[in-house]
Amino acid sequence: MPVITNIDDLKQIYRRRVPKMFYDYAESGSWSEQTFRENTADFAQLHLKQRVAIDMTGRNLATRMIGQEVAMPVGLAPVGLTGMQHADGEIKAARAAERFGVPFTLSTMSICSIEDVAENTQKPFWFQVYTLKDDDFMQRLFDRAKAAKCSAAMITVDLQMMGQRHKDLKNGLSAPPKLTAKSVANMMTKVQWGLGMLGTKRRFFGNIVGHAKGVTDPSSLSAWTAEAFDQALDWDRIRVFRRMWDGPLIIKGIMDVRDAREALNVGADAIIVSNHGGRQLDGALSAIRALPEIVDAVGERIEVHFDSGIRSGQDVLKALAMGARGTYIGRSFVYGLGAMGEAGVSRALEVIARELDTTMGLCGRRDVHDLDRDVLLIPKGFVGDWA
Ligand code: GLV
Repeated sequence: MPVITNIDDLKQIYRRRVPKMFYDYAESGSWSEQTFRENTADFAQLHLKQRVAIDMTGRNLATRMIGQEVAMPVGLAPVGLTGMQHADGEIKAARAAERFGVPFTLSTMSICSIEDVAENTQKPFWFQVYTLKDDDFMQRLFDRAKAAKCSAAMITVDLQMMGQRHKDLKNGLSAPPKLTAKSVANMMTKVQWGLGMLGTKRRFFGNIVGHAKGVTDPSSLSAWTAEAFDQALDWDRIRVFRRMWDGPLIIKGIMDVRDAREALNVGADAIIVSNHGGRQLDGALSAIRALPEIVDAVGERIEVHFDSGIRSGQDVLKALAMGARGTYIGRSFVYGLGAMGEAGVSRALEVIARELDTTMGLCGRRDVHDLDRDVLLIPKGFVGDWA
């Protein structure tokens, strides 16, 4: 086994082990992928101020996200199809997160169901929902999450319709995968992945098949996804969802100060500045550039979290320094999962924690609570100033 020292090492192994269709699903943005690329490239534009001769002993990464203790402010973001990246992927990722002491968020579009993840983990996890038309199904999702003792719900508000991802369309992405000559030939080369998949019954969208009206088998699912998302969504409707769930609520997918204010008025506990990892509106600003303005507008009144583009502990530090009180990794943990299952997710978390910890020390800061914009050298024009 090669020595893994960073997230990119995991990505290289992941690429070799997982069928192309699922690698492409994770490793893509919409249309030209400009926003997908800029999410990571813009992190590199932020430089760090090196400080010396400042006591850096006794560093602390532990804090709280929405009042819940976390070993570091880095949750696992909801990622659809995680159970196709590795057999029983959601359960494996949730276990790694719980061992590390960070939140795991289960996607509605997961392979393992809410109940299944709850049965196979010890600590509460978070549950993500989309904004769907069917109130009855929405209520049942929240009820199921409550029965499974989920300790927060996350509503994704930036997917009223899907941003077009060329690779997924060309690959005919589905769960279970469509068996074309090309996809079978590719899967045959992914022996460990295939053995894992043969050894599990979890190969369909576990939260939807058999639960949503009219979706009794996986083949009816694509028709359901095309119909189910609510293009008429407005903030009143999000208030309806707020009333369906009486626990902590996080609203994910905010990129504009006006929307941040609306989310605040809905009574959410946190918002996530996110452009869906560059998978929705291509051409949108990178999330790290959108973050500071939103923090300045609403950060005193609501917890502002961050997602989209984090591939290292340094990126986490930069997001925290820009004012985020919590962050999420999506692809960074999926690379670990696809590469090495549960151990790979643990490895991804360890890598990120170590990078965050060392960077903090070298910047002369000892506590995640002490990170502010003074840690950064921010290029002129990076924030605001848009005509
Ligand atoms: C779903 O939310 C996706 O980005 O594929």
